[in-house]
Amino acid sequence: MSLRKIPTLRIGDLEANIPIIQGGMGVGISLSSLTSAVANEGGIGVIATAGIGQFEPDWYTNYNEANKRALRREIRKARAKTTGIIGVNIMVALSDFDDLVQCAVDEGVNVLFLGAGLPIALPKTLPLDRLEKLATKFVPIVSSGRAAKIIFRGWAKRYSYIPDAVVVEGPLAGGHLGFKKEQIDNPDYTLEKILPEVISAVKPYQEQFSKSIPVIAAGGIYTGVDIHKFVQLGVQGVQLGTRFVGTYECDASPEF
Ligand SMILES: Cc1cc2nc3c(=O)[nH]c(=O)nc-3n(C[C@H](O)[C@H](O)[C@H](O)COP(=O)(O)O)c2cc1C
Repeated sequence: MSLRKIPTLRIGDLEANIPIIQGGMGVGISLSSLTSAVANEGGIGVIATAGIGQFEPDWYTNYNEANKRALRREIRKARAKTTGIIGVNIMVALSDFDDLVQCAVDEGVNVLFLGAGLPIALPKTLPLDRLEKLATKFVPIVSSGRAAKIIFRGWAKRYSYIPDAVVVEGPLAGGHLGFKKEQIDNPDYTLEKILPEVISAVKPYQEQFSKSIPVIAAGGIYTGVDIHKFVQLGVQGVQLGTRFVGTYECDASPEF
């Protein structure tokens, strides 16, 4: 039997030797420990920002500052442990979305994953007329071709810039907010069904901007066989969450 090498994942000038992204898991589940461990193995490790400041003494009185301080610290701790690719996951629905994006960009993280809402507008504090000059790549998380189209069209028009990759989360994604209960088992909403819609939504923008946009599949992917199946369906990478929760390096407590 011949073994084929798993393809690397390229996002702009970044190249992950293993095309696996560890999905951001909020409220302290993916912080610097898990992130740096994944990055050291050649994947992309991701710090989640939801609830990141919860253990700061002033979280209730000084929410934005507490979150920024905790995020900065986790990014620096991760960076001290790896030279690999690290990302930050920021939920669009968070009230301090803009502050967290700016903080992660200032800290020079490699990739920002923007989910739980449509990232139609980026913070005005960023250099919006030259986003391509930033070291940080921008990757929205979507659950439909329609959402991808709205984001790509909006960014193309507003910023003359399109996202650097896109994560497609299906209904099996752990911790996911985007589907109604009755859609979870509905064959019209499977990841396999949504992926081609996103791939074709993104295609005209890839051509217009002469930029290759990797599509990353997420939700219910656990094994090498699963990964192979999605690579066959045309994705350049996968994002896994649940699988990483049971690792020693996970930042959650062993009880969790
Ligand atoms: C416990 C847990 C917490 C999560 N928290 C977030 C989050 O804060 N932000 C986000 O965009 N996705 C979050 N996710 C989704 C993951 O990033 C990832 O896309 C998803 O887990 C992939 O599906 P899988 O768990 O089947 O591998 C979370 C997932 C889990 C399991």
